[in-house]
Amino acid sequence: MKIEILDSVESTNRYCEALDLTQVEDFTCYWALEQTAGIGQRGNYWVSAPGENLTFSIVLYPTFLPADKQFHLTEALSLALVDFLKAFIPLPSIKWPNDIYVGNKKICGTLVSTRLTGNNIASAVCGIGLNINQTTFPNWVPNPTSLRLLTGKEYKLEPLLTQLLDCLEKRYTELRSGRNLEPEYLNHLMNLGVPIHYIYKGEEITATITGIDPYGHLLLTTDNGQKLCCAMKEITFLPD
Ligand code: BTN
Repeated sequence: MKIEILDSVESTNRYCEALDLTQVEDFTCYWALEQTAGIGQRGNYWVSAPGENLTFSIVLYPTFLPADKQFHLTEALSLALVDFLKAFIPLPSIKWPNDIYVGNKKICGTLVSTRLTGNNIASAVCGIGLNINQTTFPNWVPNPTSLRLLTGKEYKLEPLLTQLLDCLEKRYTELRSGRNLEPEYLNHLMNLGVPIHYIYKGEEITATITGIDPYGHLLLTTDNGQKLCCAMKEITFLPD
């Protein structure tokens, strides 16, 4: 495992996507002290004060994974983040598909992009933004938190990154060895079995998460018994 430190880049994901991957070893981590245009899910920005948090991307070659099983990589990443956070705080949970929450506050987001060869994944850039020491956020960032806000302590970033990479490597090794991570992912899934409000196809509904399908779609049953299978763009969680 190698760590490359970048002083300032627009986005570590974009940086990695532009690399000549024939020159990049498996599991190389590109850690930016500052991102000037960090990218989040759904076309959002990822906001992170320079030098205060962990913002990095890892280049992987999960050629053993069929393209339609990319979600298994999401499961491995999410569980590694939960494993890491459990050493500091009780009860981190995964908000489907790959946000990490503590209570109703988001501490971490991940963004994965892949390249394919035939029906398999050739390479993956796995971007992780984990809030560590930041205590104030712009007011348009929904429900942010950080390790410092949760524990009252300030942290050195580099030892935490090393610890987190160990957790990621462990889960990635399990994935490569064919271990099914779905049961553990479901064990940590926020709102599993709990009826809550969503926007689905433009309408507000009440539904209960019952699981995920083999492709990572969210399975829900509505309060009038209808079964739904949703991709990320099809459903939005609503605050209670
Ligand atoms: C989300 O919206 O929850 C996903 C956030 C992902 C942010 C990380 S920070 C490191 C990497 N580089 C980026 O530009 N985005 C990801």
